[in-house]
Amino acid sequence: MPTSSPADTPYDLAITGGSVVLPDGTAPHDIGVRDGLIVHIGAGPLVARRSVDARGKLVLPGGVDAHCHMDQQPWEGRSTADDFRSGTLSALCGGNTTVLPFAMQMRGQSLRAVVDDYHERASRKAHIDYGFHLIVGDPTHDVITQELPELIESGCTSIKIFLTYEGLKLDDYEILTMLDFARHEGVLVMVHAENEACIRWLTDRLLERRQTALRYHVTAHSEIGEREAAYRAISFAELIDTPIMIVHVSSGSVVDEIRRAQARGLRIFGETCPQYLFLASEDIDTVDMSGAKCVCTPPPRGRANQPAMWRGLLDGTLGIFSSDHSPWNYADKIAGGPDTPFTDVLNGIPGIETRLPLLFSAMQTKPGLTLSKFVDITTTAPAKLYGLYPRKGVIAVGSDADFAIWDADRNVTIRNEMLHHAVDHTPYEGTRVRGWPVMTISRGEVIYQDGEVTSNAGRGLFLPCERPFAPRRSPAPVLAERPR
Ligand code: URP
Ligand code: ZN
Ligand code: ZN
Repeated sequence: MPTSSPADTPYDLAITGGSVVLPDGTAPHDIGVRDGLIVHIGAGPLVARRSVDARGKLVLPGGVDAHCHMDQQPWEGRSTADDFRSGTLSALCGGNTTVLPFAMQMRGQSLRAVVDDYHERASRKAHIDYGFHLIVGDPTHDVITQELPELIESGCTSIKIFLTYEGLKLDDYEILTMLDFARHEGVLVMVHAENEACIRWLTDRLLERRQTALRYHVTAHSEIGEREAAYRAISFAELIDTPIMIVHVSSGSVVDEIRRAQARGLRIFGETCPQYLFLASEDIDTVDMSGAKCVCTPPPRGRANQPAMWRGLLDGTLGIFSSDHSPWNYADKIAGGPDTPFTDVLNGIPGIETRLPLLFSAMQTKPGLTLSKFVDITTTAPAKLYGLYPRKGVIAVGSDADFAIWDADRNVTIRNEMLHHAVDHTPYEGTRVRGWPVMTISRGEVIYQDGEVTSNAGRGLFLPCERPFAPRRSPAPVLAERPR
């Protein structure tokens, strides 16, 4: 229901005449903003210092990209093309007002030091508000008993763990320890689900046969290995009785595992990304090296897999849609030149600015993808799951005045030159979309309007996230006195 609060003094900002997407539907409303917060939704006219005429446009809550990488310390010897400045600039030009990138701890590092360093860089450079997920690559006693509890208290309430990748992967015992810790603290564990041994074994066999072309990346990162890892993570979450999020789900068989777990009443969440709906393994299998632009892990699967991904997204099995923006330049991805073996291609693709337009445009062809579903999976659900709601992720009185104003009829052909990231390519080059964000407003400040950026680097604020779940200090049910 629209709510209003009478105004004796002018609003700082009024957004008038737009179709406003609220939790209970889309309707014409005027919005009044004061001190960076939404204070009025309802009838006009409003007296304001600045007015934005949104007639003929859609007013959405600013997007929340809950999975992106930027300003990350060197990974496999390379630095991300985007730092917080260009990464958040690209995000805001794509209709986002909040990002949740990763502070990544590798074996041997202090997690606290990694996060301090990340804070230092983000606070100087971010254009929009940000929180941090923690990547725990080394769950030592100190990390678990000292660093993590302090970091959670400071507002980092989600932890990503890897089941693969040298320097990051946890063994099964460590995974159980992390899940038990998460249960105790009420935080969410995000899982990169791929079976390490499957990848290594398949890669060794492929290399023995000198099968190094890009397409073998997909063979090495098999769907079966992804499904096994997802099933294992789900089983461990069931054992410990704590929720998990399987991130960047690529395949229908993993969607099936998540759906089965949810049907059994487990709190297993699933995330997918544009690359699994709009790209396919066929895009990697190119005669030249350009297919490297679509290489990420897990990889996009065959085009025949896409309908199962759409089903998973539309029936709610996959509850959030993030970019997994991983900004490597093409030259760095194929540093070995035209014969770079698939094993040396950097994993990850850019997409923070194209995430929302690609999905928005798909509303034309996917009947189940309504506007409210679009807003939920891209914005509201991630804000809720990561402890930012209702400050972020919704247009409501009392929430931050974060908006993306969309021209639903604008036809755009995606070209890398129009994007604002610092990456030299987009895998979506030449893709035609209908609908584009034409204005972005963050805490009541217009920071982007029709191609013109009016934001300053460093204006973004760190967002302490609430714990998404109640801490449970009792031991896991499997340890109850009477075996169950
Ligand atoms: O290929 C990908 N997705 N690279 C980024 C790291 C990750 O696993 O999210
Ligand atoms: Zn991952
Ligand atoms: Zn990622």
